[in-house]
Amino acid sequence: MVEIQSQTPADAIALPEMGCGTWAWGNRLLWGYTPDMDVQLQAVFNHCVDQGVTLFDTGDSYGTGRLNGRSESLLGEFANAYKGTNEHKICLATKLAAYPWRLTRNSMVKACQASAARLSRNVDIAQLHWSTANYAPWQEGALLDGLADLYERRLVKGIGLSNFGPRRLQKIYPKFRDRGIPITLLQVQYSLLSTYPVTELGIKDVCDEFGIRLIAYSPLALGILTGKYQVGKKLPSGLRGFLFRQLLPGVQPILNTLMAIARYREKTLAQVALNWCICKGFIPIPGAKTVAQAQQNTGALGWRLDGGEILELDNAVSQSDKQMVQNIFQTR
Ligand SMILES: NC(=O)c1ccc[n+]([C@@H]2O[C@H](COP(=O)([O-])OP(=O)(O)OC[C@H]3O[C@@H](n4cnc5c(N)ncnc54)[C@H](OP(=O)(O)O)[C@@H]3O)[C@@H](O)[C@H]2O)c1
Repeated sequence: MVEIQSQTPADAIALPEMGCGTWAWGNRLLWGYTPDMDVQLQAVFNHCVDQGVTLFDTGDSYGTGRLNGRSESLLGEFANAYKGTNEHKICLATKLAAYPWRLTRNSMVKACQASAARLSRNVDIAQLHWSTANYAPWQEGALLDGLADLYERRLVKGIGLSNFGPRRLQKIYPKFRDRGIPITLLQVQYSLLSTYPVTELGIKDVCDEFGIRLIAYSPLALGILTGKYQVGKKLPSGLRGFLFRQLLPGVQPILNTLMAIARYREKTLAQVALNWCICKGFIPIPGAKTVAQAQQNTGALGWRLDGGEILELDNAVSQSDKQMVQNIFQTR
């Protein structure tokens, strides 16, 4: 186990406008990862940091089969090798899984130490990957206490949550407030194809009230919002292909509107989709498997859609009869 160095408190964290997701790094099953992608992934990492995209999201459950933990170990390797002006702004945020065998507050501390060992450096932000409220509500208290302990013991710079809805957040928030511990961020699935956390749940208002930054995960709807997957053309294999076949026919109004704005703006669909998340007050964390994708995604920065364009996209969302399925752990 590596010794975690004592860290500075949450106000030392400067979150960028956009981050980078690393779920695909080490995931063969859904994302077709193979180790020969590692050189490319290091270049993705370097490009992001150079462009100020210094927040990286990973998880201790990421990596399939014997590649479990691979996302964290690759991320640590890349971060430790990186030399450049933004080197000291790199912020590695991992998600600690609410596994059924994690029952005590100390299990969160141990999990964070294991993540730090894979990263070969400190975890900057530790997040609880999901709420157990939907199936084992009695488990959650200890895990949240452990998350707070990580901050209080200065083992991390900040803490966060994932897949919590506003009602649940309001319920657990006093636990942190009463110990004087800020919650830095909350991530939910948010994109033009997943507006549910805001429009149905109202998560934004509650996070604003509590001073919590919102992260948009899967902001490209697993790739659909790039426009490269179309009805009747080659789709990814496995679960993503299955999902896309269900979704694509119903989401044309969104893709058509994205395309029209992208053409007018001389941007790509992905850039417009990510910019929309930023305009809605979220930090999107798109996944990227190649430097070309990362370059395109960082092109979402440095400009803003205007009010009329945002309205057009919002109208297209209401005209579409399909949305992404929500994470089964998302609470209300
Ligand atoms: N908290 C949670 O429960 C949770 C759940 C899911 C994800 N996340 C986090 O959110 C991150 C991002 O979400 P995600 O990876 O699920 O989905 P995403 O960001 O919506 O989509 C990423 C995928 O889209 C394709 N892509 C990305 N940029 C592209 C571009 N410019 N042009 C064309 N294709 C492009 C790539 O796949 P292809 O090249 O294969 O199409 C890429 O892997 C994850 O990596 C993870 O860190 C968190």
